[in-house]
Amino acid sequence: MNASPTPAITFELHPSEHREPDEVRARLLESPGFGQVFTDHMISLRWSADRGWHDGKLEPYGPMVLDPATAVLHYSQEIFEGLKAYRQEGGPIVAFRPYANAARFRRSALRMAMPELPEDAFVQAIELLVSHDRDWVPSNAEQSLYLRPFMIATTAALGVGRPASSYAFLVIASPSGSVFAGSGLRAVSVWLAEGYTRAAPGGTGEAKTGGNYAAAFLGQQQALDNGCDQVVWLDAVKHSWVEEMGGMNLFFVYGSGKDARIMTPALTGSLLPGITRDSLLTLAPDLGIPASEGAISVDQWRSGCESGEITEVFACGTAAVITPVGQVKGASESWKIGDGEPGPVAMRLREQLLGIQFGRLPDPHGWVHKIA
Ligand SMILES: Cc1ncc(COP(=O)(O)O)c(C=O)c1O
Repeated sequence: MNASPTPAITFELHPSEHREPDEVRARLLESPGFGQVFTDHMISLRWSADRGWHDGKLEPYGPMVLDPATAVLHYSQEIFEGLKAYRQEGGPIVAFRPYANAARFRRSALRMAMPELPEDAFVQAIELLVSHDRDWVPSNAEQSLYLRPFMIATTAALGVGRPASSYAFLVIASPSGSVFAGSGLRAVSVWLAEGYTRAAPGGTGEAKTGGNYAAAFLGQQQALDNGCDQVVWLDAVKHSWVEEMGGMNLFFVYGSGKDARIMTPALTGSLLPGITRDSLLTLAPDLGIPASEGAISVDQWRSGCESGEITEVFACGTAAVITPVGQVKGASESWKIGDGEPGPVAMRLREQLLGIQFGRLPDPHGWVHKIA
């Protein structure tokens, strides 16, 4: 859905007069957790069928007023993204592959019958917010500024005869540490979601839309109730093929040493095409580790671990970076992966990815985007 001739998208500056004082910000940055602390500003931009994109602003972070009939509150017409800005050694602040997020945001918009935001405007909004709130980009090791662009349907009407006719795009930012609080680099345990489905063929699984996450919370709660950190989603038809985790993609390591190779479930349409996943499919071969997309069933996962063919499994995503998986549990079985501890392939890829993001290693693929 595109508006007729779109004028250039610009953002007016309305900086906050009540920024957090330096000492408050410093205290919040000491241990920010994940997604709990927010910066001084946000970006907002409106879309309507008659005006296209308009009313772009950088403004103070704060609550939004919504009519109770606003479409997003009833029908979940919503999409979002997640990416990070890093403070590199020596000072520059960079975002990691923001154009890849911008492209996925467009694809999510198409799937949810929402207007497509031009990729340059998406990146411009991020640059503007990060440059105004640059003091909020942590300098502690492995912390970063998590950016959350999102779009919601704002039409106040209850009819479901057509998609909404007005939308708001916003970007908020949250200085963040590890998503697995306090875990350091322990391997996580995962629960097989055998009784629920996250996404089905032809559904919205490959779009980054809130409804997918709403549908996943019960499975995630079941994982927690069974003593696991995260849920693993299986295919909707047979509940036997491994798809992804609640907020991360999965990789399987076969063999070890110089014979190690990695495989990740192919993009079937019902899992999210992760940008970390895509980056690792390129990075691993750079390090001499062959990488492929394929399919693995729960039975193959278990028997591969029992035979020693599968030596490691790890999850990957913007928030989680690379997180080793040590233990799998289901309703009727459970097994350990390797010795249940973080493995060398996961750790090597993790160091490589973080090295590029934090500027400690060269960036041969031009993934790092400097913010002026
Ligand atoms: C369901 C799901 N899968 C995978 C990922 C990993 O994607 P990315 O690497 O782009 O963060 C995420 C996180 O955004 C996610 O929410």
